[in-house]
Amino acid sequence: MRTHYCTDVTEKNIDEVVTVAGWVNSRRDHGGLIFIDLRDKGGVVQLVCDPEDDKEAWSVAEKVRDEFVLIATGKVRARGEGLENPNLTTGKIEIVVSNLVIENRSKPMPFDLNDEKVNEEIKLRNRFLELRSRHSYEIFQLRSKANIAARKSLDEMGFLDVETPILTKSTPEGARDYLVPSRVHPGEFYALPQSPQLFKQLLMVSGFDKYFQIAKCFRDEDLRADRQPEFTQIDVEMSFCDQEDVIKVGEKLIHDIFTACGKEIPSSFPRMKYFDAMEKYGSDKPDTRFGMEMVDVINIFANSTNEIFADIAKDTKNNRIKALRCPNGDNIFSKRQMKGFEDYVRKFGAKGLGYFQMKEDGLKGPLTKFFSEDDLEQIVKTTELEIGDVVFFGAGPKKTVWDYMGRFRLFLAEQMDIIPKDSYEFLWVVDFPMFEIEEGKMKALHHPFTMPKSLDDTSDLEVIESIAYDLVLNGTELGGGSIRIHKEEIQSKVFELMNISKEEQREKFGFLLDALQFGAPPHGGFAMGFDRMIMLLAGTDSIRDVIAFPKTQRAQCLLTQAPSSVDNEQLKELSLRIRQQVDA
Ligand code: AMO
Repeated sequence: MRTHYCTDVTEKNIDEVVTVAGWVNSRRDHGGLIFIDLRDKGGVVQLVCDPEDDKEAWSVAEKVRDEFVLIATGKVRARGEGLENPNLTTGKIEIVVSNLVIENRSKPMPFDLNDEKVNEEIKLRNRFLELRSRHSYEIFQLRSKANIAARKSLDEMGFLDVETPILTKSTPEGARDYLVPSRVHPGEFYALPQSPQLFKQLLMVSGFDKYFQIAKCFRDEDLRADRQPEFTQIDVEMSFCDQEDVIKVGEKLIHDIFTACGKEIPSSFPRMKYFDAMEKYGSDKPDTRFGMEMVDVINIFANSTNEIFADIAKDTKNNRIKALRCPNGDNIFSKRQMKGFEDYVRKFGAKGLGYFQMKEDGLKGPLTKFFSEDDLEQIVKTTELEIGDVVFFGAGPKKTVWDYMGRFRLFLAEQMDIIPKDSYEFLWVVDFPMFEIEEGKMKALHHPFTMPKSLDDTSDLEVIESIAYDLVLNGTELGGGSIRIHKEEIQSKVFELMNISKEEQREKFGFLLDALQFGAPPHGGFAMGFDRMIMLLAGTDSIRDVIAFPKTQRAQCLLTQAPSSVDNEQLKELSLRIRQQVDA
């Protein structure tokens, strides 16, 4: 139908007759002359319809409205002097139309494609229109490039692309499952995979040695700006490897993808132990684009005459008193703002937020009266305070303090606008604990197939480390993985420590436990969140921007209206009945 894409028509084509096709981006009637900006995937080119040149084409142009689909043929000419548009690739030329066909009409747009402030709901309901914007197209170009680069990289490293089932059994990644009722087995359900974890381990038992898949995963969990119920992982598994081998593959993969997308990044990334990350940044995914590390001051506070602090300081195993230095904070923030900071941390469980201001003549603030001169000096030294700084304190149970002080660090950095926007700071967080207690229950911090460093001493499960690693980029968890348990007796022991009964083990993971008894090789791997990676590459702050047809925060697709009810016939076939909603 066409000879050129709109943006391929340049000065080189002057005097040539070309045919272009696309959508009307805008139309301007200049009393006789009609100008149309015609848009396709690459951008726009200007069409001119002159009644003196071609009356027929001009009368078609009169009927044209925004977003109509046109096919236009005409001669390329240079734009008149002073009429060039330096912002467009095609800004030096225009096409004088000799034949214009309206291929299709369009209703008026429900929103302005170029207006970024349009209500999210309207955009999602009309997502196919939102995707017409240049910005969206560029994101999906990037996504495609990254996908192809990932495949190429893994193929070159000898990995085999294998698809694993979507209709399957529950895979434990910590979220709720999406269930699919079976018609042929009344009352029974498939689960959609939360990840291909168990299948990729089975492929190692099969001797495939190196597996990868760009895999769809499904998790019914609370959604956030970087979470979707249906998302994509670059999933990798390999045999006869240790943590170093897996990390090397991960670094090469990321390097290849970022390079293909035009970003310069290092070929290997720094590492930090999980506990160091928690102590210094209050997070297992620290944003290392800026400093402001937290410092321990529990020993100094132990001397204070304030009962609350002194009491907290008695239990150095379970409690923390952390100091966060805010450079120049005394000059930046007002008293009222400082009060607001307290309200911020209270939302995350803080009982309060103490602070000192570093003035010319030493530390000031309501808490100074509880400390001796020596201890105040110690605080200045330990937190490396300079005149004009403020130092904040969080005190309480360690997990709570880590959490709210870690969030507060990010909050302050955002307020002060000190986070570099264009840098990529990668970090491997290593030496994760094997277990954590959540709501009184012992859980695997990664997943229960992760190899513990040792199970010789199980008297305190919380100190057992695992061979697990996460890749963090600019404070976002980009990926994670581990060396797996390949021996059935270790796997059973881990289940036992998590109080998963023999019956439950067999019922949920019998096939894996069986496979481990047939010569499972040592193996390990990782999965990178592909959507998150594209978010960071594209510089957008919503995961919805990088997914063609995303879901809302409430896990709905506004375009197709999914989820939706089904008719009784279908329910009957599936042996299901909807319980009447009874109002409480
Ligand atoms: P994990 O659960 O850490 O590991 O997931 C790996 C990566 O997937 C991304 N991710 C998500 N992205 C968008 N929306 C979500 N709801 C979502 N959940 C996770 C994150 C995360 O780091 N089987 C293991 C990997 C392994 O051990 O090999 C797993 O799935 O970027």
